[in-house]
Amino acid sequence: MHPLRSLILAAAGNDVIRRLVATAPVSRDVVRRFVAGETTADALAVTRRLVDQGLTVTLDYLGEDTTDKALAEQTVQAYLDLLDGLRREGLAKHAEVSVKLSAVGQALDERLAVENAGRICTRAEQTGTTVTLDMEDHSTTDSTLRVLADLRTTWPWVGAVLQAYLHRTELDSARLATDGSRVRLCKGAYAEPPEVAFADPHQVDLSYVRCANILLRGDGFPMFATHDPRLVEILDTRAEALGRKPGAFEFQMLYGIRPEEQLRLAGRGHTVRVYVPYGVQWYGYLMRRLAERPANTAFFLRALLSRK
Ligand code: FDA
Repeated sequence: MHPLRSLILAAAGNDVIRRLVATAPVSRDVVRRFVAGETTADALAVTRRLVDQGLTVTLDYLGEDTTDKALAEQTVQAYLDLLDGLRREGLAKHAEVSVKLSAVGQALDERLAVENAGRICTRAEQTGTTVTLDMEDHSTTDSTLRVLADLRTTWPWVGAVLQAYLHRTELDSARLATDGSRVRLCKGAYAEPPEVAFADPHQVDLSYVRCANILLRGDGFPMFATHDPRLVEILDTRAEALGRKPGAFEFQMLYGIRPEEQLRLAGRGHTVRVYVPYGVQWYGYLMRRLAERPANTAFFLRALLSRK
């Protein structure tokens, strides 16, 4: 892993730095580039704008690693409120939600996470949309896949996420490439040890392509989450070669990252889903985005120092 990336990810876990950054008068513009805002209304407004541009959306209420039952409940309520908003605003056909199990109680008790995620799925079904379970660090992978299997017995449309940097992911891709199975493939965003993950970015890319081929050949619905121009081109070519027409898979990108590319792909007939995070707990998310790209860090630090 790039030393700057490790440093930023380490800083993200440091309480002093966390307080400093979270309370600094950072330009709203910096946070707003990657985060829709703090409220449901902000999230719905950004969703409307993206949908009007021909994009689809998955919304993430920010928050993770909850070890407090009341906080987990707050997160569930935020999702229920959001889903009601999507229905009210007629956006449910174009927007779904992404849920981190650690934000709904996974670390406290896996059963609680199943129950809470199930409540979100019930409301999503009533709303006419779907839920995807984000994937977190490798210590949670087995638990998350267990919860996924449990939820899918009632809601087969629940989406999974697999991370190409993990050694295990080719096998997981084969297991999940079944009829109706929605699978988001990403590179992976956490600092993982070499025993479980490829450290060399080139190895991660090769793994991504191997997993993508498995998903494209399978019976599920692949969702390719990457901004990497080379991978996007390879995926486009492989999909065509394997007879997957636009609409039989989708591209996904993060809000604020390569927005022109999102529109270009949509203009070519692809389904492009933008991952839109919102909520007051934007800090951890922002740090992971900064860790991915030194240029973003410079952008952020400049704004921090200019104290706009
Ligand atoms: P990579 O980081 O190698 O970047 C390739 C190129 O993309 C860069 O050279 C640059 O051109 C562009 N780019 C990438 N990041 C950029 C940035 N921050 N700013 C500007 N340009 C940038 N991870 C996870 O562990 N669990 C999850 O559940 C999810 N969910 C998820 C959903 C969606 C929709 C996306 C797009 C991503 C995730 N991720 C994730 C994050 C993912 O694992 C990964 O960390 C990021 O997508 C960055 O990896 P890339 O594939 O974009 O490649």
